[in-house]
Order: sequence, then structure tokens, then C-alpha cells
Amino acid sequence: MSDAARLSPIDAPTHGDRTDTAGALRESDAGREVVLKGWVDATRDFGGLTFVDLRDRYGITQLVFSPEIDAGLAALAERMRGEDVISVRGEVRERERKNPDLPTGDVEVYVSDVEVLAVADTPPFVVSENDPKSTKAGDELRLKYRYLDLRKPGLQKNLLLRSKLYQSVRRYFDAHDFVEVETPVLMKSTPEGARDYLVPSRVHPGQFYALPQSPQTYKQILMMAGLDRYVQITKCFRDEDLRADRQPEFTQIDVEMTFATEEGIYALVEGLIADVWRDTRGIEIETPFQRMPHAEAIRRFGSDKPDLRFGMEIADVSDAVRGSGFKVFESILDDGGAVVAIRVPGEGDRGRKPMDKLDKDVVRKQIGAGGLFYAKLPSDGGDFGQSVKDEVFGRDKMQAVIDAVGGQAGDLVLVLAGPAPKVFEQMGALRLHMARETGAVPTGADGPWEFLWVTDFPLLEWSEDDGRFHAMHHPFTSPAPQDLDKLAEAPGEVRARAYDLVLNGSEIGGGSIRIHRADVQRRMFDLLGISDDEAQRRFGFLLDALRFGAPPHGGIALGLDRLVMLLTGATSLRDVIAFPKTQQATELMSGAPDVVDPEQLAELHVATTADVQDVDTTRPLSEDPT
Ligand code: AMO
Repeated sequence: MSDAARLSPIDAPTHGDRTDTAGALRESDAGREVVLKGWVDATRDFGGLTFVDLRDRYGITQLVFSPEIDAGLAALAERMRGEDVISVRGEVRERERKNPDLPTGDVEVYVSDVEVLAVADTPPFVVSENDPKSTKAGDELRLKYRYLDLRKPGLQKNLLLRSKLYQSVRRYFDAHDFVEVETPVLMKSTPEGARDYLVPSRVHPGQFYALPQSPQTYKQILMMAGLDRYVQITKCFRDEDLRADRQPEFTQIDVEMTFATEEGIYALVEGLIADVWRDTRGIEIETPFQRMPHAEAIRRFGSDKPDLRFGMEIADVSDAVRGSGFKVFESILDDGGAVVAIRVPGEGDRGRKPMDKLDKDVVRKQIGAGGLFYAKLPSDGGDFGQSVKDEVFGRDKMQAVIDAVGGQAGDLVLVLAGPAPKVFEQMGALRLHMARETGAVPTGADGPWEFLWVTDFPLLEWSEDDGRFHAMHHPFTSPAPQDLDKLAEAPGEVRARAYDLVLNGSEIGGGSIRIHRADVQRRMFDLLGISDDEAQRRFGFLLDALRFGAPPHGGIALGLDRLVMLLTGATSLRDVIAFPKTQQATELMSGAPDVVDPEQLAELHVATTADVQDVDTTRPLSEDPT
């Protein structure tokens, strides 16, 4: 049956406003006459009656079409399909067989009049979450028809929580005397370590605005302007490689305070997090959060964002294996490298094959380490078996490694060797892999919530590629005062007044106390290989502002999308953003980016080196959208 013939929408609806939503009716409403409007979620015929589940943002209500009330209406209901939009008038009745899984499950509405408001074509995938077929649609199809996917209660729940979170954040900052200020979107580039999105200027041929990677410079200027406390829920744009927890366009809760200290910022953010968790989930979060210096995080967890929900801490067993005579270890240790180990509980009986696979596919291929050494401690308490023969790597040395990590019967002890600190990071990656594989990492959104401040970051990191230092956070971060004298001789050892907030292994925020003196800022640019001329050209406005009475200040930015992702238990940022981008930075529904008219380019004084004829904008649904 063609859709047109199946039903026809009414030209002049008469029902007026709905009296209730599809999530509202309860037993106490029995006997009321109501008008409901929404989408057909599913239909069922049963015992001569047609049941229609009516869906809207608020829930689902069961409608009953009975030939005894109106044979014509019942026949119409039989022709309804998922996603048709209808308005019904009817009487609320208590159900004979109640559905405890549905908030409206005590009642149903006996329909006395229907108005078809819109007839839906057969959708490309099933929207109803009550239909077993609903999860089968591929990600690309779901993103292309995002408006259909967004009708699902799961995604709507995420967006609703997100909306609640905005309100909670604004209430909190308002109560703490913060001023919400909008900073420009068309701006001069601010370095945050990613590529800029650029916007050509029509009025100034050959010149470009950058979209903000963050409002960093503006928020600092606002402190110099005397605003004292600034907050903004703001979009940031970064043209970088995308992952499940990275979008090119994302949202920050951006904060800056005058006369700020680390302690003041920690307390402010802890209070915010406690409010947000309470307001959005009704969960009480314990404060203050734990703290850990960056060097310790690397040493114990091989990561600057350690997941503290499980153990498997890294042990440096270099001293335990020194003198083993095993050439690989000896030469690594002679070169200042390290041998590190972790204990994986419950994996001591693994077979040889899975161990070889772990070595080849994970340790070497994914993690890029030289190779895996291990000891298996059988669960029956039997003698341990090791991956390196006794004659090259003595049993007593392996026993010392097992002792160092506290190995017990049933454990698997994994060992990596290599240059430090890289080998710690590789072991950190292996620790995460093993935790996920063995189910040690909780999934979902029921906690535990392991918040952690990572502190004392290095100020600079050396880039082998460029042969120079880069700012670990950004160039406006203040060096730790006690390390200032190292700036000249040992810049790599200087610590920063920078901190990250980590939750369950995700970086959910980062910030610092800033440089507020022009001379220190110039020294910093100098260390980063930015000449005076370039510094003046790119950041002259900031250097100028620092000369006219700049107060000490500092702040933080929290990743709002990541917060929502963790609060909802979503596994990708795409599930908490209404119109997200794919891994190739495309928005599949509208088809952005796209070619533009040559006249538009000419007006902007832009010529493209890509051959516009060859640019494929059809976007076959073949991209990996993660
Ligand atoms: P930073 O670059 O650490 O700091 O960013 C702050 C937080 O923003 C989130 N975030 C992202 N979320 C989604 N997709 C992305 N591509 C992405 N990039 C970052 C993270 C991160 O912790 N101006 C400084 C803040 C400051 O110093 O005050 C800044 O932007 O959760």
C-alpha cells in the first residue's frame, strides 16, 4: 500500500492543544477525557482491538482502538505505522493488565477520535526502542537520519541531562559571583596545540580569523579588565585527529579567577562537580578529590590520566632484575631505561596461544613496545612458568619480580623493558588493555566516580620532531616559582602551576595559574622559540595588557561533552551531542563541509588548490563515523 493511500493527514485539525503528554497519565487520571499528540511507536492487534503506543519526549502511552467505540477508527488504527504523527481524544481507563515497566503502565486511553497530523514514509531504520530490530541500524545511517535517531528515548535522555547540566552550572557560578561573558568566535588564533579552523575575511583580502581553540587569551584579558570572576559555556574548535572522546567542535565550561590559587580553583571545581552530580543524577560526590603529582601518575599508572577504579599498579623492577645476564634487559638498563611489571589477577592459567597473541597484537602492534615477558602463576598454586628461558633470565630474578608486584597463585605477571619514561606509558596502556579485557573496568553510569587532580605537570615537553620545547598546557601557564632558576639551564625540569581534573581515566578538565608579568611571558615565548617580533605580532595585545597592572590570575576549562558522556554512561561523545561529526569531521545529516559557489570564493579572495570538480560531496555512507 502506498503511503498516500494508507492514511491522509487532516487539513484542518480541531483537537486544539494536548491536555497531557504521553508520559503523564497515572491511575488517578482514570475517567478523564484527554487529548494526546505524538508519534506512533508501535501497533499491535489483539483480541479484536488495536493497540497503539503513542510516543513523545515524555514517554509512551498505550492507546486502545475498539470497534465497539468506533469501527471506522479501529480500521484507521490498523493502517497506522511507526512514525506517523497523530492527535487522539479519548478516555483514560485503568488497565486490566498493568505494565510495571512503563510509568504510564497503569492506564490506557480508549480513543474516541483521531486526527492524522502527518503520514510517515517507511523510515530507513526502526526508531522504536521496544522493537528488537531498533538497534541494528549502522552508525552512518543513524547519523544521516539524525532526527529519527534523536527520537529514541536513549539519546533524548542524554540531551535532557545535558540541558540540566547547563542549568546546574549556571546556578552554581551565579551563586559564586561569576560573570558570564561571551568572547568572540571570530578571533585571532590562540594556541592550544591543535590546528585552527580558519575563516577568510572578505573585507581584508588575504587575512583570516581563527575560530577559538579556547577563549584562553580573552579570559585572561577579562581578568586584567577587572571582571574578577568569569565563566562561559562556550564552543571550541580544534582541527585535530578525532577519537571517541574528541570532537572538532566541543563545549567547555571555561572559568577564570583573579588572585586565584590552586587551592581556590580545586575547591571551586569540587563544589561545582558535587552540585552537577546531585542536580543531574541525584548522586552525592565526596570532596575533596585525591591529588597526585604528574611524575607519580606516570610512575604508578603510566598515564597522566590514571583510572583509579582498579589496581594493577606499575612496579619499577629494574633493581630486581639488574645483573640477570639477560642481554636485552642489561643493555636497556645500561642506557638508563627501566624494566616494569604489573600483576593481572585471575589470569595465571592463560594458555600459550593467547599469550603469544597478546605479545604480537597488543604489546608490539598496538602499544609499540619491544616485546612481552611474563610469569604465569597457576591457580592451583603450582610452580610458575615464564616466557623467557631460565638460562637467560634466571628464575630467582623472575621470583624477585613476582615478589615486587605481590604476585599470588592465579596471577599473571607482565613485564616490559625499554627507555624511560616511555616504557611506563606503554605499561600504562597494557594495564588499561588488561583491565578492560578482564572486566576490571566498570561500564555504565553507576560509578564508582574516581576523581583525581593531577598536579605539578612539567612546564615544557621536548619535541624530537621540531627539535624544540613545546608548552605542555599552553604558553600562558606560570612556571612553579621554586623552579624559576632552572628555566635557563634545565627547562625540561621546570614544573608548571598546572593541573588536570581526571575522572575514571578521562581528562575532564585542565587549567593553570597564569603568567601575569610581561617579562616572564616574554621569557616563556623565548623558551618556546617564538621570536620577539613573532610574539609581538601574535600576542602583542596580551603583552601590552600585562604592562598596565595585570593581577595574578588563573583558571580552568572543563570538557562539558565529556562530563555528560561520563554522567550518562555513553561510550562516545557522539551520543551526547545533538549533531556530532564523524571521525572524518563531516556532519552526515546536512552534509558539511561542502563546496561553495566560485563567486563566494572570489568574494573572499580565496582560491582552492583542490579541483572543485573532483571534490566528492556525495558522501557515500562508507565512512567510519567513530
Ligand atoms: P584543554 O585544552 O585542556 O585546556 O581543554 C580543556 C578540556 O576540554 C576538553 N577537550 C575536549 N573535549 C572534546 N573534544 C575535544 N577535541 C577536546 N579537547 C579538549 C577536555 C579538556 O580537559 N584554555 C585551556 C584551559 C585553561 O587553561 O583554563 C584549555 O582549553 O576535557
